[in-house]
Amino acid sequence: MTGSADPSEVLGPFRAGAGRLPPHLAGREAEQSLLRLRLQILRSSAAPPNEVLLYGPRGSGKTALLLWLEEQARSQPGIEVVRLFPSSLPDLRALTEALRRRSWVEQLTGAEAGWRGFRLRFAARGSDPLAEILQRRVSRTPLLAVVDEAHTLDIAVGRALLNASQFVGGTMPFQLVLAGTPHVRAHLRRMGASFWNRARMLRIGRLTEQAAADALVRPLRAEGIRVEPGALADMVRASQNYPYFIQLLGQAVWLQTAGAGSDRVTARILRAALPAFGAERDNYYLDRFNELIELRLVGAARVAARAFRERGPLTHEEVRAALGAEGGEEFQDADARYAAVRHLEQLGFLWQPKPRPFYEPGIPSLMDYVLEAADPGEAPVSGAGASGSAPRRPGE
Ligand SMILES: Nc1ncnc2c1ncn2[C@@H]1O[C@H](COP(=O)(O)OP(=O)(O)OP(=O)(O)O)[C@@H](O)[C@H]1O
Ligand SMILES: [Mg+2]
Repeated sequence: MTGSADPSEVLGPFRAGAGRLPPHLAGREAEQSLLRLRLQILRSSAAPPNEVLLYGPRGSGKTALLLWLEEQARSQPGIEVVRLFPSSLPDLRALTEALRRRSWVEQLTGAEAGWRGFRLRFAARGSDPLAEILQRRVSRTPLLAVVDEAHTLDIAVGRALLNASQFVGGTMPFQLVLAGTPHVRAHLRRMGASFWNRARMLRIGRLTEQAAADALVRPLRAEGIRVEPGALADMVRASQNYPYFIQLLGQAVWLQTAGAGSDRVTARILRAALPAFGAERDNYYLDRFNELIELRLVGAARVAARAFRERGPLTHEEVRAALGAEGGEEFQDADARYAAVRHLEQLGFLWQPKPRPFYEPGIPSLMDYVLEAADPGEAPVSGAGASGSAPRRPGE
């Protein structure tokens, strides 16, 4: 073992894991063309119309889309890209420093220029040092700033960033793109930057069946592997059109196919790959389930899951009514019902896939997992079957 092997040779083309660019970024054509247009605007040194906000449940591909955008921006000259990490932006000073342009000496040597502190101090005397620094930087080169996990931005830091973006991006080529879980909208609202809701908001949810099929088939085809139609239909169903599961399943299927030395995914190969996929998927469910426990939301999640199974898409009022009727003591209080719906929405457990006030499950098969954890034997919500390895009580 040299340790330098290409991971694709061992793991195949799929990329399961947070923040990995998939081999085929499927079903995001509309978002990609909007983002491409924003890069074009920057390249022509014009000001973009507004900020862009990507939001959606965990594992649906927000980071992947940001990575794709960065790659696009870097693949042609003319735009600088800065990626901001909320976890390393505890305060305004850190943000200012992150947005400051590195001098050529610093770029070459990695060293910090001696007069940096002076410049920051000097700038701090102005009305808005951050906006000034940004303005100075953008006046030289158009700038794209991406912020992932924006729902974790410190409120004061986020407010300063949005204000600076509004100030500079209003007239200069500065594009801010934020991504976060559904909670990010409420988080930005709390920052009190009133214009944030004029940002272009892009919902990043599950894929269409066609896009899920593409995401599975194309990387295999590029490896010379065909998928039989029956097997493909089953793969799409098992993936739930959920990007993270698509990568998990694709990887399990590739390993099985390559292991069998075959150039075709047949029903038999798929059957043999499903246990490995199921085990990984159930690990993911367990994480989500434990998150619900930690947040004391399991009871509410179960009520919502049951209501989905009985009625399909739900309004806010219907979820609250179900909590009142079936949630027990805890949800006799109206505020508690509102809070529970809000938290479930923030986690993406409840998800509004269209610009209409109807919730659907963020991941349908997670509903089954949550219900089966409480009562093994309940009928599935998703039609996919939560799992062969759904949680069972010991001894069953
Ligand atoms: N459009 C897509 N087609 C196929 N696979 C995708 C697509 N988008 C993302 N993926 C894959 O799905 C997985 C999850 O993607 P990603 O980490 O970008 O999700 P996320 O929304 O950022 O999740 P989180 O909120 O947990 O950070 C990754 O393995 C990624 O490669
Ligand atoms: Mg992410």
